[in-house]
Amino acid sequence: MAKVRKIFACTECGGTQARWAGKCPDCGTWDTLEEQKFDASAAADPHKGTIEGWQNFVGAGAPRASPIDEVAPDPLAAARLSTGIGEFDRVLGGGDDGQGLVPGSAVLIGGEPGIGKSTLLMQAAAGWASVVDPKKGPDWSRRVLYMTSEESAEQVQQRAARLGVSGEPNLYVLADTNLARIVEQVRTLRPAVLIVDSIQMVYKADLDASPGSISQLRRCAAELVYLAKASGTAVILVGHVTKEGSLAGPRVLEHLVDAVLYFEGDRFHSGRIVRAVKNRYGTTLELGIFEMGGRGLVPVADGGGASFDENPPGPGSVVCPVMHGSRCVLVEIQALTATGFLGAAKRKSSGLDTSRLAMLIAVLEQHAGLRLADRDIFASAVGGVRVVEPASDLALLLAVAGAHYKRAVEPRTVVIGEVGLGGEVRPVSQLEQRLREAARLGAKRALVPQMRGKFTIDGLDVVAVKNVDRGIELLH
Ligand code: TYD
Ligand code: MG
Repeated sequence: MAKVRKIFACTECGGTQARWAGKCPDCGTWDTLEEQKFDASAAADPHKGTIEGWQNFVGAGAPRASPIDEVAPDPLAAARLSTGIGEFDRVLGGGDDGQGLVPGSAVLIGGEPGIGKSTLLMQAAAGWASVVDPKKGPDWSRRVLYMTSEESAEQVQQRAARLGVSGEPNLYVLADTNLARIVEQVRTLRPAVLIVDSIQMVYKADLDASPGSISQLRRCAAELVYLAKASGTAVILVGHVTKEGSLAGPRVLEHLVDAVLYFEGDRFHSGRIVRAVKNRYGTTLELGIFEMGGRGLVPVADGGGASFDENPPGPGSVVCPVMHGSRCVLVEIQALTATGFLGAAKRKSSGLDTSRLAMLIAVLEQHAGLRLADRDIFASAVGGVRVVEPASDLALLLAVAGAHYKRAVEPRTVVIGEVGLGGEVRPVSQLEQRLREAARLGAKRALVPQMRGKFTIDGLDVVAVKNVDRGIELLH
């Protein structure tokens, strides 16, 4: 009989150690190692030592290598399941011939508790269940099974009613946590999509580990991913993240699934963002923007960014057109300078890259002659979107300089450009696209890097800025 061994698994990264330690040697977090029994059945190689196993392994049924051009395309990957919610479909990926969930794929959605994951997925589930193929009429293979392991079926039903999506005959609800029973329901119902809300509560009864442990999580997720591949049912796993923002537990699932999406925002604002951090079926650049309202999440098609009004902008406020995948969002960047102490001046930012802020402050001191060593500097991107593009450098720099000199850009101005260490303003990608979008949203003037190819945009006065000095001269 196999000897039962003890191991210590990290609840943060899933790494296993033979001995307990205060700090996980793999990920460096403290106090996360938990004792577990070694799961011999999971580790054993099923083919080991058996003649049948060896024959299966190398025999007629084994996969063969083939030239790359002869690999048959996967017919499933072509047919995307759309939710009808454009903001969500775009993040799931796809092209002009259809965006959305790939049948038979496995997607992990992470987010803090209370951020709105269940709400988003209930709205998406209703979308998947109700989509009607215009050629075929209602498609009855479009069953969706919403499996809830945290709430009761009535609670889910009440939420659906509140969201106005109840009365959908293709949408099924199951309140269960036992993996075997869930798989059995999928086998009989054959849904197109299975939503597991949340994976952390699901357990496999014959596994010698407590529900919620890393071994349970890994095994249950692996079996559900296998179920997706074997049955063609797309599986969506919902995972909670910790306050520190890591997909605790679910992080160990990231390599198993085809796509990992994060649902972000803070509970004090109504804006919510869904973005992909991994996607085998699409780009990870796209962003879906929503607003949480009384009747669920409302897609915000124009990005919900900054808008221009008649009042002139205050000093320290600059609007920058920021690209997120294929779309351009106007973001207001604000800066404030206040009296600080020489040698201990604060440099804080929210929604921006703090090291980039430090670099721009150094550029302002060296190349534009500002004295900021004893000034506290605070900067933020308004609206909760994180701006990390170097193309936003010039806007941030002019916001800081404007706050310092109490001067502002002209009304309805957008600013774009990367700033080099020599104080020069460098070209950015997709300039024309950004400017067209800015003009559409009401911009009249744009400060941009010098460009080779010229283009004109109706109603937009495009001013090339060679270096940071020239940019500061344009502040009034
Ligand atoms: P929920 O989807 O349950 O979050 P999660 O599954 O990520 O834990 O919803 C979280 C919050 O959203 C909840 O506190 C109430 C709020 N909410 C609304 O503001 N409007 C709504 O229509 C719904 C359904 C929820
Ligand atoms: Mg929930």
